[in-house]
Formats: sequence, structure tokens, C-alpha cells
Amino acid sequence: MKRAILAALGLATSFALPAAAEDIKVGLLLPYSGVYAALGNDIEAGFNLAIEQFGGETEVGFEVLTEDTEVKPPVALGKAKKLILQEKVDVIAGIVSSGVLGAVRDMVHGAGVPLIVANAGNDNATGAACSPFITRMSFSSGQVNRPMGRWLFDQGVKKVFTLAPDYAGGRQMIGGFTETFTAAGGEIVGQEFTPFQKTQDFGPYLAQAKASGADAVYVFYAGGEAISFVKQYDSFGLKGALPLYGSGFLTSPLYVNAEGPAAEGVITALHYVPTIDSEANATFVEAFQELTGRMPSEFAVQGYDAGRALIEATKTGAKDRKSLANALRQVSFDGPRGETSIDPSTNNIVQPIYVYETVAGESGLTQKVLAQLPAEKDPVNGCEMAPVSN
Ligand code: PHB
Repeated sequence: MKRAILAALGLATSFALPAAAEDIKVGLLLPYSGVYAALGNDIEAGFNLAIEQFGGETEVGFEVLTEDTEVKPPVALGKAKKLILQEKVDVIAGIVSSGVLGAVRDMVHGAGVPLIVANAGNDNATGAACSPFITRMSFSSGQVNRPMGRWLFDQGVKKVFTLAPDYAGGRQMIGGFTETFTAAGGEIVGQEFTPFQKTQDFGPYLAQAKASGADAVYVFYAGGEAISFVKQYDSFGLKGALPLYGSGFLTSPLYVNAEGPAAEGVITALHYVPTIDSEANATFVEAFQELTGRMPSEFAVQGYDAGRALIEATKTGAKDRKSLANALRQVSFDGPRGETSIDPSTNNIVQPIYVYETVAGESGLTQKVLAQLPAEKDPVNGCEMAPVSN
């Protein structure tokens, strides 16, 4: 059996198999604890599926090691150092939190280790702090939120109250929305950032939103915080009175059923929903369901596309850190989200954004696509991309 397939089955992680000399050593740097733990597990499942499905297309095998960031930047930096210096990985994939990405950026750039970002939206990593070693297969914070600012204003919403956790991810997501919403003529009538990973009771913030005179509330919350927020928004009695919008992580298919009826009718936007009507997506959804018994989320697709990008890069003959970094930023394929490519001036992915409503389906909550907005490419945001010489 190919090593790649063993890795996908979870048998080759952490040295279960001796690595062959030509194997590519991959470090998955993900949260397996903390508010984003479920996201990390879904990214890993997607990554393993890609290795299983496409691993046969390349001569190399993959040895996959995993490390838990705990969603804590200093912990994650220590784990990145371990993967790079001790384990001598050829490539790192993963990273969920923008705070963690900010913390490890200099380490991976300085060491010249390719990093495939499989979630964290930190705008700077493909902006002013871009690196030829960092390629993002997920999204940037601005990219998923800017289209919603325009779209919401066009729907007749003129005054908005915003909420998000107080860290780089939350601030940048709201920044992207605010930029386009106010440029269109909308007004932000109030804005709060809640202590990240510490807020249990959103009541005081919801009271502020209610009293603000807003037409609607726009938020970014993800993982455990999204579940608490959506439930409290409903139990506070706001749902009927003040429509709730946000970036689509709020009602991710990964945990929307834990939110239950409170999530019904919430309108959000993302770069992927499992209900995208295409052949490539149908194939992915079926394979993911077979592997895990559940629908894939945006996190699963990001892990899947990160794994696929790595395989595509090795198909060009790339094997070491430098050649892998160069090849990764040139990959393109038709994936579950549609045509997927990397913008060479920032190394950020280019992709359409889908506005969707969470609705009751035959077996739980599902995603009804309301609009597909044109492919979003980030402005260079101060990125000066230096080439890597092989
Ligand atoms: C981020 O910190 O960039 C982040 C975290 C969780 C998400 C999306 C973005 O679901």
C-alpha cells in the first residue's frame, strides 16, 4: 500500500511508518483543543482525503505529523519551531487563527519553509507581511467580508451594529465589511469587540446592539463562540427584531446543527458551501461523507485543497522546501469551490463568494445559496513578493 494512502487512513502519522528517503514530511499545525478544535479536525480530515484521492498521481509518499496550536500564538510558535528545527519537515500546512498566523509568519519565512495556510484569514500574511513561502488555500479576512458590505447595502440595510472577538481575525473581518458597507453609503452605528475565548455571556453586547438604532447586526464568530452567540442571539429575543448577518463561519455546516433552530434564517457569506451545484463538488461531498459520515464544511474543503495543492506541486518534480514553495504558488485546479488559483502578486487564493441562508432541510439545517458574487482577488495591500531562487 502506498504510504500516501496509509497517511490518509491515519496510520502513517507520527512515525507509524518509517519514512522513505523520497517522502515529503508534512507538519499539520492545527488546533486540536480550544474554541477552534473542531475546525482543526475537519481540516485534517479534508487533507487526508486529498492524499487518499490524489496521492496516486505523484511518485512521492507523504509522512504526516500533527501538532496542536491550542489556538495560542506562543504555543503555536513553539510547535512551529519543533516541526521546522527538530522534525525537519519539508512543508507545514494548517493554521486556523489569524493570531497564530501572525505569530509564526517570521519563523516560517526566515527558515524558508513553505506554509500552506488552510484557514487563518490574516490579511497581512498575503499583504504587507507576504512571503514567497506562504501560500493561502483558504481565504483572506477582507476577501470573505468585503462582498457582504456591498450586498447588504444593496438589500436596503443602511445602519449596522457589528460584533466580533477581539483579536486580529475579528478585527480584520469587521474591517473588510465596514470598508465596503460605508463606501456604499451605509453607517456603522455601533461596534464592539468581545474578549476572545473568554466571553461566555453576550447579553451586555446584545443589549447595546438592540439600543443602537441599527437595522441589522453583522458579526464574525466561529467555532464554539459561534454556537454560543447564535443561540444567545435567539434566546435574547433579538432574532425576530433585528436580522442577523455575518461571515459564513457563523453558521458553518460543521456546527450549525449544534446551533439548531436559532440559526434558521441567518444570512451569511463564504467561499464555500457544500450545496454548490457542480460535479467537482458533488464528488468531494460524496467522498467526504463516506469518510466521515457528515457534510464537508469550508474547513474540510480548505484542508482538501491544501492537500491537493501539495500533490500538484510534487507533480512538477518539487521535493525540497524551496522548490515546493515555488511550485505551490503556481498551482491551479478545478476543485469543489470552482476554478481555484493563486494570485502570484500576493499568494492568496482567488475565488467567488457565496451569500447563503441557513434553512431547514430534510436531514437538519442546510445552506440555500442566495447569490454567487464575482471572484474576489485581494488588493496587494503592501505585498512586495520576492521570488525564491531554486
Ligand atoms: C481566523 O482567525 O482567521 C479565523 C478563525 C476561524 C474562522 C475563520 C477565520 O472560522
